[in-house]
Amino acid sequence: MKRTWWKESVIYQIYPRSFNDSNGDGIGDIPGIIEKLDYLKELGIDVIWLSPVYESPNDDNGYDISDYQKIMGEFGTMEDWEQMLAEIHNRGMKLIMDLVVNHTSDEHQWFMEARKSLDNPYRDYYIWRPGKDGKEPNNWESAFSGSVWEYNEATDDYYLHLFSRKQPDLNWENPKLRSEVFSMIKWWLDKGIDGFRMDVINFISKDPSYADGEVIEGKAYASGHKYFMNGPKIHDYLHEMNQKVLSEYDIMTVGEMPGVTPEQAELYTREDREELNMVFHFEHMDLDAGPGGKWELRPWSLVELKKIFTKWQTRLSGEAWNSLYWNNHDQPRVVSRFGNDSEAYREISAKMLAAALHMMKGTPYIYQGEELGMTNVPFDSIEDYQDIETLNMYRERVEAGENPEDLMKAIHVKSRDNARTPVQWDNSKHAGFTDGTPWINVNPNYERINAEANVNDGNSVFHFYKKLITLRKQHDIIVYGDYRPLLEKDEKIFAYIRELDDEKLLVINNFTAAEVDFHIPEEFKGVQNSKLLISNYEASDMLQDFTLKPYETRVYKTS
Ligand code: NOJ
Repeated sequence: MKRTWWKESVIYQIYPRSFNDSNGDGIGDIPGIIEKLDYLKELGIDVIWLSPVYESPNDDNGYDISDYQKIMGEFGTMEDWEQMLAEIHNRGMKLIMDLVVNHTSDEHQWFMEARKSLDNPYRDYYIWRPGKDGKEPNNWESAFSGSVWEYNEATDDYYLHLFSRKQPDLNWENPKLRSEVFSMIKWWLDKGIDGFRMDVINFISKDPSYADGEVIEGKAYASGHKYFMNGPKIHDYLHEMNQKVLSEYDIMTVGEMPGVTPEQAELYTREDREELNMVFHFEHMDLDAGPGGKWELRPWSLVELKKIFTKWQTRLSGEAWNSLYWNNHDQPRVVSRFGNDSEAYREISAKMLAAALHMMKGTPYIYQGEELGMTNVPFDSIEDYQDIETLNMYRERVEAGENPEDLMKAIHVKSRDNARTPVQWDNSKHAGFTDGTPWINVNPNYERINAEANVNDGNSVFHFYKKLITLRKQHDIIVYGDYRPLLEKDEKIFAYIRELDDEKLLVINNFTAAEVDFHIPEEFKGVQNSKLLISNYEASDMLQDFTLKPYETRVYKTS
């Protein structure tokens, strides 16, 4: 397997609105990021993935871009951005930007032109269809509720928006549009950035049939997923992007890909196919969702979780490469989801989850605040929520007669705002995030859970993450070793082996609050030279049968 810098890196995601506010307007900004670069350097991360900072009316917090080549006023100026890039590079770190090219904002110049008339030169930059029997062209449901189609009076037809009606989908069939997007990508790469995270990039090729999705009884709209996820020309477009732009630079790329299977991921990331370096899949994120989607809560099982990880680890073991993540700005906080955020177990389980993830094969991603063990926040009132997905769902379902209390329960567990409360820097007012009024409330637990307390406590979640990152730099096996699962049917322990040449890692994680006996596998019996690389409790270097404490993790290395 080829060795590359992005396989050896740890990536840290910044969601700028919630990261750090330097000017007291309650909104995180670029100078605020610059202030915290030393903190990130101390944590040891290699690459920053910055969620969108481009000009945007903020219908979806910057994922609705109205100008790809301008910085959003609330976040600062292009000079601030350039200073940030220089300061990141000066510290030996890298920067990848978010590339959102499945759609633009409806306030983007292209769309404002396109919607004017049927013969406007920008018309074919977007996707238009006539109505059917006075209704929308098909029955697909938008990710943010309602139809994916919006009527446009001037042209008497509908435009497609897989997300909000303020996020019209771009028409990748149009070579002119593709070439505009490629020049924009090149423009950013020429500024010296180190790559891109690509937003829902496996949605850019749509099945031209635009056929109706399968209707589920009692539902107004149907899923159109199979008509736009991993569509017919997706590999052509990504290969073209790679050949025309990406391959000219030493960069990394990661594509966000809902609905991607390991078989498809291999096609997207295998080195000889020249498309992308990594994908974000969602299989482990879908584990606690029912057939009705993310708001339908379902208990998750460790056996299923392990099955998913093992499938991806083994399937992508050759020339393709995995991304590893628990969290991002769209997902609930991992310690509340797969760990235990009670006072007694929050820190210990946050550490266990970190080790379980970082010791697998792939590039690990940390989402802001994850390194502090930040938790979900159950706001009492729907008024406290800001996220368009949450608010649209709540409104639509209350109107349809669903019980608001049940909806609030689902929101507490799943809302994207769980990830979007401000980073908790210290125990001062608003957690030190802003001197003004934050755009979204701070999680009230900031007095206990914050960066200052974490940095000052050598035994904190922060220092555990730091150690994991250091270990990755010291031991090639953590990056390049092969993965082999253990105890696949065990409902409490997630254990696996990594192997590189004559070295082995044994990774053992207790996912429960109970004590559990662990019997070392035959192949480790009698091994003399074992070393405990990391644990969240005191433990010895000796590898022998033992009882795992609640949420205990241990990583042993032998050679
Ligand atoms: C995925 C992004 O992560 C999410 O935040 C956004 O709402 C959608 N794509 C649409 O851009």
